[in-house]
Amino acid sequence: MKPLELAQTRYSTKKYDSNKKIPKEKIEELKEVLRLSPSSINIQPWQFTFVQDEEVKSKLADASLQNTEKINQADLLIVFSVAEDLDAFQKVVDTHLPEALRDWYNNLKKTMPKAELRVWLARQVYIALGVGMSAAIALDLDSTPMEGIEPEKYMKILGMNDYKPLFALAVGYGAHDDYYRPEAMPKSRRPLEDVVQTI
Ligand SMILES: Cc1cc2nc3c(=O)[nH]c(=O)nc-3n(C[C@H](O)[C@H](O)[C@H](O)COP(=O)(O)O)c2cc1C
Repeated sequence: MKPLELAQTRYSTKKYDSNKKIPKEKIEELKEVLRLSPSSINIQPWQFTFVQDEEVKSKLADASLQNTEKINQADLLIVFSVAEDLDAFQKVVDTHLPEALRDWYNNLKKTMPKAELRVWLARQVYIALGVGMSAAIALDLDSTPMEGIEPEKYMKILGMNDYKPLFALAVGYGAHDDYYRPEAMPKSRRPLEDVVQTI
């Protein structure tokens, strides 16, 4: 499919067919695509947790506000987390970034208020969400981005310390009777001339 067709086909799925499982190769491809996501100064401040274990997924579903049902139905839940312990993350930076980028980050860290630095790091993780949603539909998979999760509970369930969940992506096959399919509910967007300027 071409990019426009992919954009028209992708939708935030509200109901999944829980009998349909994702082929393993597609899951492995999603992992690699996420790993290749771009970020400012190649900082890569993320962790992607792929959850298919039914017991763990069900616990996470219970900590997901209005999203419980779809997480239980979808075959896969990907949790997107940002570096939380900045001292632990410094070791990652020191190990993986070349000197010039490391110096750039260290300078940002020195000059930016900590809260702003954390916002900047989180922004990078949202780029990976766009990459992940686009990859999912290109692989013929439906998905739902979800900020409606309880990060502290997720951390406990997943035994996380150094990273903190920001949002999650349910992935699977939309149910045929999902009322939100674009065939049933056309996409609602602001007009092109409102959001795109051509100079
Ligand atoms: C960052 C982000 C967080 C979202 N959180 C939720 C969520 O918690 N639950 C949900 O059902 N939809 C969630 N959505 C889906 C949006 O409501 C949806 O993308 C928007 O209404 C446009 O519809 P479409 O994705 O079907 O084109 C989220 C979308 C984004 C990008």
